[in-house]
Amino acid sequence: MKATVSRKAHFNAAHRLHRSDWSDEKNTTVFGKCNNPNYHGHNYELIVSVTGDIDPDTGFVIDVKILSDLIKEHVEDVLDHKNLNLDVPYFENRNPTAENIAVVIWDKLRPYVDLKMDLEVILFETPRNFVTYKGK
Ligand code: NI
Repeated sequence: MKATVSRKAHFNAAHRLHRSDWSDEKNTTVFGKCNNPNYHGHNYELIVSVTGDIDPDTGFVIDVKILSDLIKEHVEDVLDHKNLNLDVPYFENRNPTAENIAVVIWDKLRPYVDLKMDLEVILFETPRNFVTYKGK
């Protein structure tokens, strides 16, 4: 029997979406308020889900305390209160969109979750806008 265990988490971070090879006009058209030159913050909400077989001994797919600790160590401690453009090397030459942040989070967690289990990351950039990433 398979089940999905999910854990919610949260972090605050600043970003700017911008391409220096585009005109100011094009940047504003494509990225809107997220192009603000002085950065701006989002309250990111995260749902990490692990799907796998229910262990007959424990009744768990994954101990949610372990999942919670993994998110704290590899996501919250790395991204919370950071400027994503300046503080996270992955975004040195890549826009910190919700899509790309979800990929970073998934990549950070994947090594710590049993490969027999599926991993899914849902990242809310605003209460209404969110992205799902499950690996490629
Ligand atoms: Ni933004």
